[in-house]
Amino acid sequence: MQKGNLLNISKFVAPEVIFGLGAMSQVGESAVRLGIKRAFLVSDEGVINAGWVERALIYLKEVGISSHVWFELTTNPKDFEVAKGAAQYLESGCDGIIAVGGGSPIDVAKAIAILATNGGQIKDYEGVNKIISPLPPMVIVTTTGGSGAEVSQFSMIVEKARQVKMAIISKSLIPDIAIVDPLILQTKSARLTAATGVDALSHAIEAYVSLAATPLTDIHALAAIRLITENLRESVACTTNLQAKASMAMASLQAGLAFSNAILGATHAMTHQVDGY
Ligand SMILES: [Fe+2]
Repeated sequence: MQKGNLLNISKFVAPEVIFGLGAMSQVGESAVRLGIKRAFLVSDEGVINAGWVERALIYLKEVGISSHVWFELTTNPKDFEVAKGAAQYLESGCDGIIAVGGGSPIDVAKAIAILATNGGQIKDYEGVNKIISPLPPMVIVTTTGGSGAEVSQFSMIVEKARQVKMAIISKSLIPDIAIVDPLILQTKSARLTAATGVDALSHAIEAYVSLAATPLTDIHALAAIRLITENLRESVACTTNLQAKASMAMASLQAGLAFSNAILGATHAMTHQVDGY
């Protein structure tokens, strides 16, 4: 197999994307369009402390959607946290999932969605295309600009007993609507901005050199590499430079579209062991 051979069958999948300064204000209307009446809002403590969950709750309330906030998860989220979240989801009477956060809350929100309608344990879904039943509607508001989880068909969950980071891969995991608001990136620390920026660069490079790359993924991978090399330094140096923040948010999004469809390489493959440990 040769990269970019147009004679091979390839697919490109992506959610509806709402991008731009203030895009977060669309979270309520997005949930309404998906028929959500009571939202299970997955986040983490840092995002809550930064005030973004409070903001999302206001937008949801404005359109008559009640919410149940849940944030009992850690970085590199674990299987038992997903189990607790799924139990809470089923108890809460919610009919849709909204994630406000970075890679960890987004991956957990997806994993909770799997268990909510498919049952069992999250390790049952490790690997490719193990999800049978449709998932609850999902809206993702990304806050880190790096993970690409808001557009990807992956959820990465650590199985504590085996100390392994499991990759769950399915087109069902692509959220219905992804909201990317560069304003949110202003509250990220310089350290996190740098780390997530390099993560996004790695996504773009690994996707570009992947044997599963196609013209549709290459265009996003190359655009992401260009945006990151031109804007990452400034985005780290100046938290209020909105042009740099918007460029990094778009770069992360495009790197996400590239790697979700072209898949990643050796660098990210190593994280399965290291993160699990
Ligand atoms: Fe990554």
